[in-house]
Amino acid sequence: MRRAIIAGNWKMNKTGPEAVQLVKELLNRVSDVRDVDIIVCPPFTALESVAWVLGEGSVKIGAQDMHWAEQGAYTGEVSAKMLLTIGCRYVILGHSERRAYFGESNSDVNKKLKAALATSLIPIVCVGEKLEEREGGQTEVVVQDHVLGAFEGFSASELKRVILAYEPVWAIGTGKTATSEQANEVHAFIRDLLKSKLGRSLAQDIRIQYGGSVKPENAASLLSQPEIDGALVGGASLDVESFARIIKAVS
Ligand code: PGA
Repeated sequence: MRRAIIAGNWKMNKTGPEAVQLVKELLNRVSDVRDVDIIVCPPFTALESVAWVLGEGSVKIGAQDMHWAEQGAYTGEVSAKMLLTIGCRYVILGHSERRAYFGESNSDVNKKLKAALATSLIPIVCVGEKLEEREGGQTEVVVQDHVLGAFEGFSASELKRVILAYEPVWAIGTGKTATSEQANEVHAFIRDLLKSKLGRSLAQDIRIQYGGSVKPENAASLLSQPEIDGALVGGASLDVESFARIIKAVS
């Protein structure tokens, strides 16, 4: 059985004090949840203060991105070690906003994955097609390209702790969600792909989150699908009530 995993991607929202406030309220609401991995991904500037509040508790913290180099002249960037040192356990890689606005390529994601897996960070690798790609019947081609591009050069055993997030770009922040069946179909496609390229065991065990306008209203239906193991939640994770309801929908 794959354990459910719900992550909140706060994107460029919340100052340090606001983030601390939000996470304290969240802890109050989900302290009784035992069967779901809960992760919050605040912006870099709030990671350390949120990590202090979370301590060794059940809610874990992740970053939204990182650089592939260990250190050096990369103005504005942070390394895996910097994230680990302040208590991060997870890191989102290859989010569609990084790909669209900051030109991140599959090969960048691949290098970041390598750097994350060289440490104990747990990467959440995002894949997903744009609207015109879906309408052009290219969903599987694009998703395959993202998955294989990110995973290039890794063995199944190296990828064991990786989490995938299928996030159709047309559903992110738009209020349009893939139907549960549409999402499940792509998740099943990803599992088949992994099975043929990396073997049955990884395909069965890897957790695949769905992301794109997940809300309390659609969470239960999405998360009841057999191939959907959790959610990567953007907008709704900024509202503690909504995020807690999404977590409880799967718990
Ligand atoms: P959304 O964002 O829930 O606001 O659509 C999801 C994401 O970008 O991870």
